[in-house]
Amino acid sequence: MAIDTTPIQAVKDKFDQDIGRLDVASVEAASLPEATELLAQANELKIRYTGKRSELAGLMKMVGAQAPEDRAAFGQAIQAVDREISGVLTDTIEQIESRITSIKIEAERVDVTIPGRRPRTGHLHPITILRQRIEDIFVSMGYAIEDDREIETDYYNFDALNIPEGHPARESQDTFYTTDGFALRSQTSTVQIRAMERRGVPIRIIAPGKVYRRDTPDMTHVPMFHQVEGLCVDRGITMAHLKGTVTEWLKRLFGDDTVTRFRPSYFPFTEPSAEFDFSCFVCHGSGTSNGERCRPCKGSGWIELGGSGMVHPNVLRAVGVDPSVYSGFAFGFGLERMAAMTFNIDDIRHMFENDVRFLEQFR
Ligand code: DAH
Repeated sequence: MAIDTTPIQAVKDKFDQDIGRLDVASVEAASLPEATELLAQANELKIRYTGKRSELAGLMKMVGAQAPEDRAAFGQAIQAVDREISGVLTDTIEQIESRITSIKIEAERVDVTIPGRRPRTGHLHPITILRQRIEDIFVSMGYAIEDDREIETDYYNFDALNIPEGHPARESQDTFYTTDGFALRSQTSTVQIRAMERRGVPIRIIAPGKVYRRDTPDMTHVPMFHQVEGLCVDRGITMAHLKGTVTEWLKRLFGDDTVTRFRPSYFPFTEPSAEFDFSCFVCHGSGTSNGERCRPCKGSGWIELGGSGMVHPNVLRAVGVDPSVYSGFAFGFGLERMAAMTFNIDDIRHMFENDVRFLEQFR
């Protein structure tokens, strides 16, 4: 006797109707919400037709109610429909999911050809730019760069530099004091002493760094500024070496036609002492540029830069160096005025106000 497959076929017919109502063909043009909705419906059908509580699962329980010789055929008929339904559902769900994936990929697409946003990079401060240029020149001449402390004792700022207590030179370099006997250095000349104590002689160094003085800020004064100290000590060093060295580095910084001039002066830590000027880098010493009085040199043709001289025997003695064997020269100058002239800055206070609009001009 043939088995009765009517209930199995009924399930299949109902499924065909349900899956027919699911407009799977439209999925290729569906939006993300539409595709998501289709997927939900397909999953619902999956639960309804293939789950443990599906009608087919219910029919499976009726296998035992069949005549023994029909049981196998009945079970196989259910399994065949189950395979068919599962196959259709798996394909359908796969199709919808692939549509959802491609919608997402499309939405997240990155155009790698769009120009990027350039990150803002920092740049050097005008004082640093100038300091590095000067350092490069001195390094190329065999000098070492010395860096040292800004908080000093009276000994290093004054005594060891042949400026004993009560010396008038202390007055002109009033600085900022801490309550425990230290002070902010008023000159980088302190590094002459520090470096000779550390390295001994012969020595060739420059020491760029910050110095402090009790000054009221104005266009040409700030209480913190920068100096570069130079020191060369060896056997047989003369004033000619001083003049040659200063002239050479200024030529390298401002051009080969730069001329220097030394004027007698006084500093406690040098003897003899001289101030040095160099020919104006704008008018080259003529005093006029573009038919007008030259600005950086105020029409004089010369720019005053710093102090210098032959290291005083007392300074050498302070670090245990015999002045009858060794001699040396030293010089020192400020960076702010030089930077102001080089970069055409009319007020040196600008350099320490951290206004980005100002600073960005020197990249
Ligand atoms: N230290 C001096 C000042 O601040 C500048 C100076 C003058 C440095 C003469 C020197 C020098 O090394 O020899 O005014």
